Order: sequence, then C-alpha cells, then structure tokens
Amino acid sequence: MAVVNGEEREEMNRANEFVDSVGSKLVASLAGLGLAGFVIFHMLGNLQVFEGSDAINGYASFLHDMPILLWTARAGLLTAAAVHVGLTIRLALRNRRGRPVPYALRRYRAASVASRTMALTGSLLLAFIIFHLLHLTVGVIDPSAPDGMDVQGRLDVYGKIVHAFRNPLYVGIYVAGQLALGLHLSHAISSAFQTWGIEHAALDRLFKLAGPGVALFVVLGNLAIIFAVFLGWLHP
Ligand code: HEM
Repeated sequence: MAVVNGEEREEMNRANEFVDSVGSKLVASLAGLGLAGFVIFHMLGNLQVFEGSDAINGYASFLHDMPILLWTARAGLLTAAAVHVGLTIRLALRNRRGRPVPYALRRYRAASVASRTMALTGSLLLAFIIFHLLHLTVGVIDPSAPDGMDVQGRLDVYGKIVHAFRNPLYVGIYVAGQLALGLHLSHAISSAFQTWGIEHAALDRLFKLAGPGVALFVVLGNLAIIFAVFLGWLHP
C-alpha cells in the first residue's frame, strides 16, 4: 500500500482546495449570469409601462396565468440567488484567509471602483431586492399603495409603479438601488469573461466594455421608468 507522507498530503489538500475554489467560482459566475439575464428581461418587460396600463397589466397577467412556469422561474431565481450569494461569500472568506484563486487569465492591472466594491454593492443589491419584493410584490411596505386590480380584474402593475415613483422617498431608494446594481453588473459581466477563460487579444477591449455597456443599458431603462413617473410623464 502506498504511504502518503505529510508533504504529499499537504500537496493533495492544496490541489483539492484549488479545484473546489475554481469550481465554486464557475458555479457562482453561472448563477450570477442567470440573475443578470433576469434583470435584463425584467427591465425590458417593465418598459411596457410606457405603452400604458393595458400593455403592462396584460403582460403581468399573461405571466401570472402560467403558475407552473411562474413558480418554476421563481424557484430558479431563488436558487440562483442563494447559490451566488453563498458561494461568493465562501470564496471571499477563503481569499481573506490568504489563498486567492487567480482568474483563468491575467487580472487587469488597474482595479476599478466597481471591482473594489463588489462585496459592498452585492450586499446593497441584496438589501434592495428584499425591499423591492416587500414593496412591489408582497405589498407590505407602503400602506397607501392601491391594493389592486385594474378594471378588467387583472393585477394593476401599472398602478403600483405609478403610485410608487410619485413619492420622492421611493425614488431615492430605487435610484440608490440602481447605483448598486450598475456598479455590481458592470464589473461582474466583464470579469465573467476572465472566469470562463474567454480571451481574444483583438476583443479584449470589447470584453472590458461589455460589463459597463450592459449595466448602463439596464440602469438607464430602469431610471427612465422611475423618472418618467416622478416627472409626471406617466400618470394614473
Ligand atoms: C425601476 C425598476 C424596477 C421596477 C419598476 C420594478 C417593478 C417590479 C414590479 C411591479 C414587480 C411585481 C410584479 C408582479 O407582481 O407581477 C417586480 C417584481 C420583482 N422584481 Fe422588480 N422592478 C424594478 C427593478 C428591479 C431590479 C433592479 C431587480 C433585481 C435586481 C428586480 C427584481 C425583482 C424580482 C426578483 C421580482 C419578483 C418577480 C416575481 O417573482 O414575480 N426588480 N418588480
């Protein structure tokens, strides 16, 4: 029987830890990309508020009329969020203990504000999402919100949105949420290319711009909704 000495055991432990860290990073990245996909889809769906109450309430009732699909998507989102948060916290703790896992490719030399504040923006984003669910999905934050249905008996998503963003308090909270979302997405998407080892000298600049580009697209879409209501362009 082969005898494993202390040095070899240490080497094996290090190798196992490396595989575990790289695997965790890939899974966390995949879950994060799934969440980013949802955020893009959600923003595009919400833009229907500009077409009026019939469009967005019809869209919401179309989604709610497929409970199996809706609850499967919700379960998928919840799982992706739990996996992403759990694994990134675990990796951050491990890195803090002094065993950083390098990217598959080189790191960019100058660290941006977005990259240095990932833990902070991630935590703020999580707090924002919990607030947002309690506010617009569960409806327990704002007692003055219409609890309602529209004249056709559908969930009045248009009414909820318009009621929310006429109030400067919610405008402030949602704008702060967009700031956290923008910074987080901006670094996350560009860094996903490195995590997955996707590199091409000629496309390097494009990969670096993809994160800020997607982040700007999502944040501007969401801000357009918030300010269109606040400035009175969309009304009840
Ligand atoms: C101006 C920006 C936003 C608006 C107007 C908005 C609006 C809404 C509304 C009206 C609902 C309830 C829909 C329903 O009951 O059918 C909802 C649900 C939700 N929102 Fe947002 N949202 C915004 C931004 C965000 C962001 C940035 C995130 C994530 C980072 C997010 C995540 C969610 C989630 C997870 C749900 C629950 C979906 C479900 O299971 O039904 N939202 N949003």
